[in-house]
Amino acid sequence: MRVLVTGGGGYIGSVLVRLLLDEGHNVRVVDRFFFGEESLKSVADRVEILKADIRDIDESVFGGVDVVMDLAALSNDPSGELEPQKTIDINYLGRLRVAHLSKKVGVKRYILASSCSIYGAQDGMVNEESDVNPLTTYASANYLAEQGTLVLGDDNFVVTALRQATVFGYSYRMRFDLAINGMVGAYHTYGELKVLRDGTQWRPFVYVRDTSNAFIQVMKAPSEKVNKQVFNVGGNEFNIQILELAKLVTSSLNKPFEFSWYGDPDKRSYRVDFSKIKETLGYKPTVSFEDGIKELWQKLEEGSIRWDDPTTRTVNWYKTLIEWNNRLKAISRCGQIL
Ligand SMILES: NC(=O)c1ccc[n+]([C@@H]2O[C@H](COP(=O)([O-])OP(=O)(O)OC[C@H]3O[C@@H](n4cnc5c(N)ncnc54)[C@H](O)[C@@H]3O)[C@@H](O)[C@H]2O)c1
Repeated sequence: MRVLVTGGGGYIGSVLVRLLLDEGHNVRVVDRFFFGEESLKSVADRVEILKADIRDIDESVFGGVDVVMDLAALSNDPSGELEPQKTIDINYLGRLRVAHLSKKVGVKRYILASSCSIYGAQDGMVNEESDVNPLTTYASANYLAEQGTLVLGDDNFVVTALRQATVFGYSYRMRFDLAINGMVGAYHTYGELKVLRDGTQWRPFVYVRDTSNAFIQVMKAPSEKVNKQVFNVGGNEFNIQILELAKLVTSSLNKPFEFSWYGDPDKRSYRVDFSKIKETLGYKPTVSFEDGIKELWQKLEEGSIRWDDPTTRTVNWYKTLIEWNNRLKAISRCGQIL
């Protein structure tokens, strides 16, 4: 199978690409590589890599492709608020464009990387039938992208949206702005966790290789099971309140529970039911909180990931890129005056 992964250089994408290669698929990646090209360096000779923006690509990029996994996006709530119109342009309209082009050139399947964040703030367990409550531009763009792409599904074009839980674990493009990764990184550096107030908020989690495997499982599933379907990706036992999670992080590492609070109280809180993907596809996360946490600690110890790497804080890094861009514009304006 030839699989096109947009955002293949990212946190999830760089793991997913390697899993696809391990299974013998041909992989093509389209990515702006906002976080650098290092994440795919060790597999670069086995992947077709196109450094391009999903807002600019044309039909030629999809030539010979069987499946599109659409991961390119400004990838969290705070990044989505930096320039909301850009978030809509990339995360909603950009993905719609990728889906339309895929269908036009005869790609057989399209899988959208959506997010459980579209549930926003809700009491009780929510599932794919529940009302959504997107509280941010990022979450709204995900929901709009789901709506806009799922209707394209037909007998020849199978469309699936995967609402991923918050991901954790080691990747080749590291993200410390994700809750578990950030807690482990902070403890390793400062000897205490940083916990987002007020700690009672619920969140579901999924290990990075497990969420990547969901894309592969959907790719291989009979079309009648996945076409025009939304699946939450994770496992019911991975729903946890943030302060409890912080305790779990230190207990997994066999360390004393030391923490400090940060931020305003988080308005988002959702507990998610993952029965549909389990019952329909037999999908089950395989990596526990403890194992993922221990692996992160080990990677920090051996120096394969670094807390002080500025690209690991997604929103801060995007702010830096915007600042550089503005400076370049200012310099070129000076050039014109002179
Ligand atoms: N990581 C999570 O916890 C999580 C949870 C739910 C959903 N998701 C979704 O999964 C997808 C992947 O997330 P991630 O954690 O790997 O994020 P990431 O930021 O690490 O990766 C996104 C990739 O997309 C690329 N990109 C961004 N805009 C682009 C554009 N206009 N054109 C081409 N490339 C572009 C970036 O360079 C980056 O490599 C995203 O759609 C994200 O919203 C992630």
